[in-house]
Amino acid sequence: MAEKLLTRYNDTPGSHTLNFYRSVNGYQALEKALGMTADAVIDEVKKSNLRGRGGAGFPTGMKWSFMPKAPVDANGVAKPKYLVCNADEGEPGTFKDRLLLTQHPHMLIEGMIIAGHAIGASRGYIYVRGEFVRETQRLEAAVAEARAAGYLGSQVMGRPWSFDICVYRGAGAYICGEETALLNSLEGKRGEPRLKPPFPAQVGAFGMPTCVNNVETFCAVPTIITDGAAKFAAIGTERSGGTRLFCVSGHIEKPGVYELPINITLRDLIAHCGGVRGGRKLKAVIPGGASAPMLSAEEIDVAMDFDSLAKAGTMAGSGGVIVIDETACIVEVAARLLKFYEHESCGQCSQCREGSHWLARMFQRIEEGGGTDADLDMIAGICSNMAGQTICAFADAVTGPALSSVRKFRAEFEAHVRQGCCPLKPADYVPSAHIKHHASARL
Ligand SMILES: Cc1cc2nc3c(=O)[nH]c(=O)nc-3n(C[C@H](O)[C@H](O)[C@H](O)COP(=O)(O)O)c2cc1C
Repeated sequence: MAEKLLTRYNDTPGSHTLNFYRSVNGYQALEKALGMTADAVIDEVKKSNLRGRGGAGFPTGMKWSFMPKAPVDANGVAKPKYLVCNADEGEPGTFKDRLLLTQHPHMLIEGMIIAGHAIGASRGYIYVRGEFVRETQRLEAAVAEARAAGYLGSQVMGRPWSFDICVYRGAGAYICGEETALLNSLEGKRGEPRLKPPFPAQVGAFGMPTCVNNVETFCAVPTIITDGAAKFAAIGTERSGGTRLFCVSGHIEKPGVYELPINITLRDLIAHCGGVRGGRKLKAVIPGGASAPMLSAEEIDVAMDFDSLAKAGTMAGSGGVIVIDETACIVEVAARLLKFYEHESCGQCSQCREGSHWLARMFQRIEEGGGTDADLDMIAGICSNMAGQTICAFADAVTGPALSSVRKFRAEFEAHVRQGCCPLKPADYVPSAHIKHHASARL
């Protein structure tokens, strides 16, 4: 297995402090980057094949190169450029950013300052998920330490360049992880996604050119600069470099965050985590957070990089790997996920607002034995009216678990319809209250 690049010092006491970070060569990448031109830094990140770890897997160096060099407003006055770190981490099954925020906040800050230099930003924002109270405290303390040490502020490391970071806590809405909803929320507006174009690189935070990246993406930058792009690119595939933080949960012997080569196969990843809990049979895996279409047990010889998973009809997404064993009812798994999406749809687009609601009710009804064959066929129709039809990719995300569960486990759905109950539940099973209120609802 490749060496750990981001989590080498996990669980080392004091890993979040400036003293510790400096003792393991922290901020030396920044020193090196400030001695390079902005274009040279972008080139190095391009050569590393780093792709965004937030979900879409967009090449990071290319995203940075899209930022305008010297933007001006209608009156010819120079516009400031902003950098935003997406630390909203709301995707069910994903819990790696919180580890980085808690244990390695200076790695994130260093990565952001280097990115700020590369794109010529004057200010960075870290948008933190509302529930992350401890993480926010750690971040604020680390930003204060970095400022006092001269890494942030009016003259970064004595250079004639000013860059500072502001930590902003959201209010706990999944949609605020979508980058344009995040920008609205950061501006104090309702967290609703914006129509694109214009893209954030043109009109971002407070109307200024803005680059948004995920926590893990920024954290990978110092190691790329210190050790060179070639070392990072040598791990993974030709189009996807480096290690990745996989969040492995569900029916697995040793759940947790594992930093491994991005192209490890799903089978090897499961084995690395001790295998399926209790030696049971694997039924399905959600490989990239709740929005990623499920894979069946026969499909786990796939590599976990962005392209291989896309080719397999699913996605690498946010790195959240949810393992599901033979004891779980797939209809119930999908129903629970859809309940989440129903709750989190911002409601701006009717296809998403109504569609996520219909799907959640329908799946719950099928799970509780009230479904029909016509329901199973209607699911695909509802999904086709959602995916690609809305302002943001939330609606596409909803269709991931809905379509894949019915397509790959149709026999299980049909058994619910035929038997008028969940075949995997005991006869005296009582659904928990928060699910039960949907039981009698029909479309
Ligand atoms: C509904 C939705 C939720 C998202 N949530 C997150 C999130 O919690 N964290 C994140 O980094 N990206 C999230 N994204 C992706 C962001 O919009 C954006 O692509 C990402 O922050 C870019 O960073 P990267 O290029 O480093 O991956 C979400 C996207 C959608 C459509």
